[in-house]
Amino acid sequence: MSKPARNYQFQTAGRIIAGPHSLQNLGDALSGAGQVSRVLIVASDTIRKHGITDEIAAQLAQRGIASEVIGGVMREPTEDHIEDLANQIGEEHFDVYIGIGGGSVLDATKLLSVLRTNRLRVREMIGTELIPSEGIPTVLIPTTSGTGSEVTPNAIVTLAKEELKIGIISRHLLPKLVVLDPVLTLGLPKHLTAATGMDAITHALESYISVKANPISDMMALESIRLISGSIVPSFHNGSSIEERSAMLLGSMFGGMALAGSGTAAVHAMAYPLGGRFNIPHGVANAMLLPHVMAFNMDRIWDKLEIVAGAMGIARESGSSVAAAELVISRIEEWTKELEIPQDLMAYGVQSTDIPSLSSAAFNVRRLMDNNPKPMSTEQIEAVYRELLPQRETAYNKDEVSL
Ligand SMILES: NC(=O)c1ccc[n+]([C@@H]2O[C@H](COP(=O)([O-])OP(=O)(O)OC[C@H]3O[C@@H](n4cnc5c(N)ncnc54)[C@H](O)[C@@H]3O)[C@@H](O)[C@H]2O)c1
Ligand SMILES: [Fe+2]
Repeated sequence: MSKPARNYQFQTAGRIIAGPHSLQNLGDALSGAGQVSRVLIVASDTIRKHGITDEIAAQLAQRGIASEVIGGVMREPTEDHIEDLANQIGEEHFDVYIGIGGGSVLDATKLLSVLRTNRLRVREMIGTELIPSEGIPTVLIPTTSGTGSEVTPNAIVTLAKEELKIGIISRHLLPKLVVLDPVLTLGLPKHLTAATGMDAITHALESYISVKANPISDMMALESIRLISGSIVPSFHNGSSIEERSAMLLGSMFGGMALAGSGTAAVHAMAYPLGGRFNIPHGVANAMLLPHVMAFNMDRIWDKLEIVAGAMGIARESGSSVAAAELVISRIEEWTKELEIPQDLMAYGVQSTDIPSLSSAAFNVRRLMDNNPKPMSTEQIEAVYRELLPQRETAYNKDEVSL
């Protein structure tokens, strides 16, 4: 366990209802919460088309709660998109905002809630604890097993002009209620199962090695690692298994709690410019970077990775502490292959000439870079990005030689 040199704190969602079909308890939970007569349901078009928002509206109507739906939340939302949604809601009053979807929808819902009660633009909220007042109470219902956003005080927005993603952190973003129903994740397509699952394990691993790790975040991180490492590959191959989906959803929630306690680090800092500039899905960017950043950190974290190997159930396969740590990194690489995530930035249009500006953008994500157990210079960040550009550059060079 980490022995923190500083004080630490932990805060999460107010109440969590979990288990298969727990969504059916939403109406009871809301009608038992007092003055709730009108709610806003926030979703993406995909979730709306699946009929889930209609199901929720019908369930609430039976308890005399009226609802409106606002769909069309974009993936990895931009500040302009969030403000457009806020303008659509206008001055209309709702007692509760219910966000149902992946991290993009949950983050959007959190921000819409505080935009309604604070006279601020999204841009003025960027940073830590810059939101003065509580928002409209929120209920968050994840449909991916990835971000853990349902239990974090964070919301991530894309700044289109700057080609960056950035964090807004405030205790006012925490929801009053979370519904953790694995049935909602049964239909998650394979590529999303892979990417979001790798995001979740990245949260757990980065929180565990973060310089801000503490006994509370460690406990959450190790349980997250245990659950996800047992289910990430099975849930990819057998998405209709409620057991595997349950483990992933719980694992991703614990990953969110871990990151809420101690923060992510260099993997996330380096993933943000890849998302902001090349639209690489958040989980895919993390999955590509994770083994390389862990290898870079190795001399500072091998003792922690030995414990991670224990949580993954692979420690006995190795002969020594360092070997156990190395096994963790090779296991992550095996997962990305099995989950069909390319270890190749060029597949997303990144060129060698883009690396210096990506590196300087990642270096400037100090909120996360400062959590990394081993400081990274821009040159070291560049070297890690370049490890993800290998084959085709080699092939290109060979062609040059043969000309
Ligand atoms: N707030 C936090 O603590 C936190 C942590 C990590 C990441 N994030 C952010 O969350 C966003 C990513 O969220 P995500 O990875 O969950 O993906 P996402 O929300 O962007 O969703 C990806 C796609 O999956 C679809 N989808 C979601 N659930 C589905 C289901 N059950 N069946 C079929 N399709 C479904 C969505 O409609 C969307 O098209 C990024 O912006 C990332 O930066 C936030
Ligand atoms: Fe993440």
